[in-house]
Amino acid sequence: MRHDHIISAKQLSRADIEEVLDHAATIAENPAAFADRHSDTLLGLLFFEPSTRTKMSFATAMKRLGGDIVDMGSVESSSVKKGESLADTVRVVEGYADALVLRHPMEGSAKMASEFVDVPLVNAGDGAGQHPTQTLLDLYTIRENAGFDDLTIGIMGDLKYGRTVHSLAHALTTVDAHQHFISPESLQLPRSVRYDLHEQGADVREHTDLDEILPALDVLYVTRIQRERFPDESEYREVAGQYQIDGETLDVAKDDLTVMHPLPRVDEIAHEIDQTDHAKYFEQAHNGVPVRMALLDLILGGEPR
Ligand code: NCD
Repeated sequence: MRHDHIISAKQLSRADIEEVLDHAATIAENPAAFADRHSDTLLGLLFFEPSTRTKMSFATAMKRLGGDIVDMGSVESSSVKKGESLADTVRVVEGYADALVLRHPMEGSAKMASEFVDVPLVNAGDGAGQHPTQTLLDLYTIRENAGFDDLTIGIMGDLKYGRTVHSLAHALTTVDAHQHFISPESLQLPRSVRYDLHEQGADVREHTDLDEILPALDVLYVTRIQRERFPDESEYREVAGQYQIDGETLDVAKDDLTVMHPLPRVDEIAHEIDQTDHAKYFEQAHNGVPVRMALLDLILGGEPR
């Protein structure tokens, strides 16, 4: 890994991806061997939006590497409330921490913030933009369960505002996956993402109906409608509740279909699926720890460069 900052999945080559995933697999096999790896390291957490998995798994990853975290806490309790700019906040916190993790509601915020700091900055979600570390744990889960060879994947739900989708689509292109996007017309991929995928030569098809493609899928990646990003609540209500799956939906799926979801889910996946071998979303969330340990180790210089 030769990146100073991790801002977008677009910057990750296939070699970068394989390096992180291989390193994560090594860590997952024997985490104790990495327990003192970064014992003097402090990771700064700057979350301007709600988070459970991403924030807690970054904190867990840093602590499992022997380091610790410094956490800005909620926006409500920070100087952001007093009108501090993001640029000032990151410039201050880089003096406290050896690397920064930023989540912010504004698309492009991570790129902008990275230009003000010398320590590595990791984008943990910038509005409807990108979420590259989610992509790495998604890919880890896909590689473990379905492999990358001749992979056919369906990505369903909010493709317009879902940053996990935007990141994942780029990375899946890098591993030559056949990608099917399933959504209502109003929530299709943004033109910019579609353009980039086309430029990369991605194998992409778009659908409004899951049934027509479900039998061909190795992986179905379900996403939440991103209610908080709709400019108008009535637009959200028009699409809410569409594209849900339950046991019956999966009757026509392959026996070894892997069902994933970045979580949190609202009502997209019926709880009855949790008990089936298809359900890999909790495993996926747990993979966030070894994958983020691997990424932190690589960007903090744990491995020979
Ligand atoms: C996702 C996010 O924040 O983009 N959550 C996560 O990091 N696992 C998905 C979502 O909020 O729907």
